[in-house]
Amino acid sequence: MVRFTIPLLLSSVVVGATAAALGQTYIQYSTVTGYFLQDDNSTNATAFDYTASNFGLINQTYPSDDPQSAKSLTQWERFATFVSSLNDNAAKNVEYKVLFMGRHGEGYHNAAESYFGTPAWNCYWALLKGNASVTWADAHLTEAGIEQALKANAFWLSHIQTQKIPLPQSYYVSPLSRCLETANYTFSGLPLPAKYPFLPTIKEKLRESISEHTCDHRSNKTYIHNMFPSWNFEPGFAEYDELWNGVTEETDAAQDFRSKQVLDDIFSNDCSTWLSFTSHSGEIGSILRVLKHRSFSLNTGAVIPVLVKAEKFSPWEATSTVSAPPWSTSAHCTTAPVTSISTGTAKGCICPKSAAPVTTALATFPTSA
Ligand SMILES: *[C@@H]1O[C@H](CO)[C@@H](O)[C@H](O)[C@H]1NC(C)=O
Ligand SMILES: *[C@@H]1O[C@H](CO)[C@@H](O)[C@H](O)[C@H]1NC(C)=O
Ligand SMILES: *[C@@H]1O[C@H](CO)[C@@H](O)[C@H](O)[C@H]1NC(C)=O
Ligand SMILES: *[C@@H]1O[C@H](CO)[C@@H](O)[C@H](O)[C@H]1NC(C)=O
Ligand SMILES: *[C@@H]1O[C@H](CO)[C@@H](O)[C@H](O)[C@H]1NC(C)=O
Ligand SMILES: *[C@@H]1O[C@H](CO)[C@@H](O)[C@H](O)[C@H]1NC(C)=O
Repeated sequence: MVRFTIPLLLSSVVVGATAAALGQTYIQYSTVTGYFLQDDNSTNATAFDYTASNFGLINQTYPSDDPQSAKSLTQWERFATFVSSLNDNAAKNVEYKVLFMGRHGEGYHNAAESYFGTPAWNCYWALLKGNASVTWADAHLTEAGIEQALKANAFWLSHIQTQKIPLPQSYYVSPLSRCLETANYTFSGLPLPAKYPFLPTIKEKLRESISEHTCDHRSNKTYIHNMFPSWNFEPGFAEYDELWNGVTEETDAAQDFRSKQVLDDIFSNDCSTWLSFTSHSGEIGSILRVLKHRSFSLNTGAVIPVLVKAEKFSPWEATSTVSAPPWSTSAHCTTAPVTSISTGTAKGCICPKSAAPVTTALATFPTSA
């Protein structure tokens, strides 16, 4: 029997073109703190309910408040004026945007992880596509997950009506089914301005941390298109998933590298100020690191707003990583684990035979027609 917890460092996969190599502007991000409770270190993320606190928008006056009208305007209306004033007064290379980042509602993989326990899930079950009754490869939302997304929908509706909350001008979604479904339930049927309809763009790099788990393997483009025929794919979106391989997984450094790439892409090509991302706990965590926001874990279905400052520099001023960090492998049971230990320092999973790094994916997917 083998007990293991330590991932083995191995090969390097995926090399992204760098901003400098492409001669593009280099963008440096930071979070402007002091406007949302979530960016304050003293806010307890575990206990935080975004629906109970006006999204966490702090009650305060802004230098941009007009004393005549301030009393008749909501906090969100005045915050919108404040963000406009930041952009109006910003240096030429500086831009402010507000990101509403929503985590998908509960998927079948989340329910299965609770059912099997995290260690056994990670060391065996997550590598399969599902069991006899449930599929968790590219998991769909459970009933509870749909409820969470509908709660977000009701929250947006009430805040449009009572708070006149600024609405997203652009919507970006991870290509995994649970996010596509969450975005759909969250934003369908809202009184949105004709100018800014809910017509998301599906972005490959907004997907979850890519592990050997089949819940991180996306469906083919045709399938996604059939689910939501009117939605847009970003240019170059491949028919088959080219990133998941079932053998190696992204490290945090590799994930942060691609999170910066997707932010650079959006910040370079979208002049909107108010943006919605529907993504995942791991990926939103990575984006928060790139934005230099404090760590803030979201429960399934939760949403976090962030006021972002982006400063653009010439490529030769770039100081960050210039090539994609390597991925790693981890050992797994090849048959159902004997036992799963979820407490103490021995946290891990006991395999019936010796465990080794996976060298071929346990689950396979078509890669060509
Ligand atoms: C919040 O915590 C981080 C890490 O502990 C620290 O670096 C940062 O200065 C803190 N920020 C504030 C405003 O206290
Ligand atoms: C944060 O909230 C959780 C859940 O309510 C609680 O268990 C935990 O002790 C809190 N943490 C702190 C530092 O207060
Ligand atoms: C702001 O004030 C309103 C009532 O005036 C209150 O309902 C809300 O919870 C306050 N928000 C915060 C983040 O304190
Ligand atoms: C499959 O896994 C789910 C957990 O998501 C569990 O509820 C169900 O009982 C399992 N089915 C079988 C046949 O073991
Ligand atoms: C999209 O959302 C609408 C409105 O809630 C719902 O009726 C529809 O079934 C959803 N579509 C999918 C594919 O989930
Ligand atoms: C796409 O995936 C679906 C569902 O797995 C499958 O039925 C279909 O044949 C696939 N299409 C292509 C073009 O591979």
